[in-house]
Amino acid sequence: MDLPQFLAELESLTAEAHAAFQAAADTAALEAARIEFLGAAKGRLKNAQKGLGAVAKDDKPAAGKRFNDVKTEIEGAFAAAQERVSSVGAAKREGPRFDPTLPGERLRLGRLHPITQTIEELKDIMGRLGFTPADGPEIEDEYHNFEALNIPAEHPARDPLDNFYLSVADGQSPVPGKSSSAPGQKPALTSRPLLLRSQTSTVQIRVMEKTQPPVRIISLGRVYRPDEADATHYPIFHQMEGLLIDRQVTMADLKSVLRMFATSYLGEDVHVRFRPSFFPFTEPSVEADMHWHDRWIEFGGAGMVDPNVLKAVGYDPEVYSGFAFGLGIERLCMRRHGITDIREFYRNDVRFLEQF
Ligand code: FA5
Repeated sequence: MDLPQFLAELESLTAEAHAAFQAAADTAALEAARIEFLGAAKGRLKNAQKGLGAVAKDDKPAAGKRFNDVKTEIEGAFAAAQERVSSVGAAKREGPRFDPTLPGERLRLGRLHPITQTIEELKDIMGRLGFTPADGPEIEDEYHNFEALNIPAEHPARDPLDNFYLSVADGQSPVPGKSSSAPGQKPALTSRPLLLRSQTSTVQIRVMEKTQPPVRIISLGRVYRPDEADATHYPIFHQMEGLLIDRQVTMADLKSVLRMFATSYLGEDVHVRFRPSFFPFTEPSVEADMHWHDRWIEFGGAGMVDPNVLKAVGYDPEVYSGFAFGLGIERLCMRRHGITDIREFYRNDVRFLEQF
């Protein structure tokens, strides 16, 4: 083969390779083109290299140089095509570009549970009357749940069947006054049984232990009683406790605060009535009822804080007096929204919950 013929073959090979690589639309087509031109065994470039052997000896350096240039050029064209094909693939994988003119997708937002909404609203109302929220633990000791509230050991309210006592440590009886430690065993780790608080009045004590009068707090939270669930009772429910201690506080102040609260919550002029009652930690004690839409409802217990309670936290009952109240939050929410069964709050039925 003479040199011009060899060079002409290389020229047409280069042009065809360029055309084939450019025409390849995807990686499979490009791979086929690569095998055709650059294949190690039967590729057309390999074939052309064989022709080099037939070129006259004097022409070999020029032919070899041209062959190397062509090889580099074809490999470069393949690399460029490879990059193009893979960037097309990447764009396809990305999917359609973001179109800001399309309408947005509506997010399904949840909402707060009706009891949580009620708690927020009650905090708001009482905040306007100058009461600051305070918190206390749901697991309590007997001192804060009973003793400091003037409920002595033999009082029926402390009956293990009426409370959720917890076993607190090995050898510790969950039942007050009894020890399950065997004789000779080490005494229990804590000397006081614990229980799930049965009322938010515990927070009164915890606040007064840490604060000097005047005190004006509310505490909203969960309480626990082994009550059978029915339309108006649930074993876990919520109370709002209120406590105001200052000089010269009277029952008239208590009634005014409860009336303003009831009016704000129900949105009308509500009548509040007191019925005589008994709580060990208030003296006198009342049940507070309100009249709304032609019905009386009991919304909680209240009274003037017993001097024994004030003494237990180190306040001087000759100087300070105050009132406290404890209201059932579920009952308030039920009345306001006309809910007839307290169990609805805890069935987790979204058809009910979505209405609030
Ligand atoms: C008390 O718990 C007193 N601590 C209230 C109190 C506070 C009196 C401060 C004086 C001073 P009582 O046990 O009555 O009181 O409960 C208060 C309210 O909680 C009731 O009026 C009722 O609305 C609600 N309640 C009681 N038991 C349940 C229950 N099982 N399920 C739902 N609500 C309940």
